[in-house]
Amino acid sequence: MAHRFRGQVVVVTGASSGIGRAAAHEFARQGATLVLAARSHESLEAAAAECRRLGAPEAIAIPTDVADEHAVKDLIGTTTSRFGRIDVFVGNAALFVYGLFEQTPTDSFKRVVDTNLYGHLNAITHLLPHWKQRRKGTYVLVGSIQSLLSAPYQSAYVTSKHAALGLVDVLGDEYAGTGIRFTSLLPSTIDTPIYQNGANYTGKASHPLPPTVSVERAGRAVVHAALHPKRYRFVGRVQASLVPLQYVFPGLFHLITKPMVETFALRGRQEPTDGNLHVPAEAGNATNGGWVAKRRRVTRPLVWGGALAVAAALVLRSRARRPTLTGR
Ligand SMILES: NC(=O)c1ccc[n+]([C@@H]2O[C@H](COP(=O)([O-])OP(=O)(O)OC[C@H]3O[C@@H](n4cnc5c(N)ncnc54)[C@H](OP(=O)(O)O)[C@@H]3O)[C@@H](O)[C@H]2O)c1
Repeated sequence: MAHRFRGQVVVVTGASSGIGRAAAHEFARQGATLVLAARSHESLEAAAAECRRLGAPEAIAIPTDVADEHAVKDLIGTTTSRFGRIDVFVGNAALFVYGLFEQTPTDSFKRVVDTNLYGHLNAITHLLPHWKQRRKGTYVLVGSIQSLLSAPYQSAYVTSKHAALGLVDVLGDEYAGTGIRFTSLLPSTIDTPIYQNGANYTGKASHPLPPTVSVERAGRAVVHAALHPKRYRFVGRVQASLVPLQYVFPGLFHLITKPMVETFALRGRQEPTDGNLHVPAEAGNATNGGWVAKRRRVTRPLVWGGALAVAAALVLRSRARRPTLTGR
């Protein structure tokens, strides 16, 4: 994929961190002109500078809260007046909350839905007149495997992700054949700071549910989705394989989900927090969450230790079996 986006204008929301930042890097390598949106001005400026270094002819930061319709309208208006058009819009910004339904404050629930569902509605509403005039445009929804799967302790997130996929699915049907395309990326667990930055009302520390896929792979998948828009694209096969399980064997699926989350995703103590719901995370917000590196720090010594133990056992066994001359 060399410079496939040269001459194209791409807007990425949630570009100050995680998958959005990694996708922006990949679009920059492909020569796209980039407009980066999120709430944190400082992190966005840093991401824009990275994109220029990676090859974007232009990359600008426009601080935007996607839950604010006026701000999203301004984002789209400023981009089209400055660059003449928007070819691809990546709706990636999202907020995450861990908490049983009864632990999650109603305001936090609504804040998540305002961002993760109405953020898309705000963007699509103001993109459509522009795209209808041009008779083309591609909307990439960064959904989640939880757009299809239930997950206890995540009622707000799962509700918002199911609803956003529903919206984009219907629009995909309604605009089929018009040149305006809607595509949904459904990632499994990705190594981003969302688990450190999100709200958490459980009293337990949050961890990504394994296995964790690298953020760079997710960033490349976003670019691939924009290039070849299909209805759905999954990132991470293991958790995707749970989708048929939920719908074909719901009894079994719903039996394992709560213990699975309690065992793997919520471990150790942590004070309840609103996380980044109302204010963006600290500047310097990273692209990856450090989870893959942490896993490697734990698993590498285990793998090497195991390999050495097996090798030592084999050597000892072959020595023990070697016949001695005196024994003949
Ligand atoms: N990481 C995973 O395991 C995973 C799995 C499946 C799907 N996803 C999806 O992937 C997407 C990116 O998540 P991530 O893991 O990369 O999370 P992340 O590192 O926390 O990044 C989220 C981004 O969204 C921005 N954002 C949050 N609320 C916003 C708002 N109201 N207005 C504008 N920007 C806002 C954040 O920036 P500011 O704080 O500066 O606004 C940040 O740039 C999300 O849609 C998420 O649901 C993630």
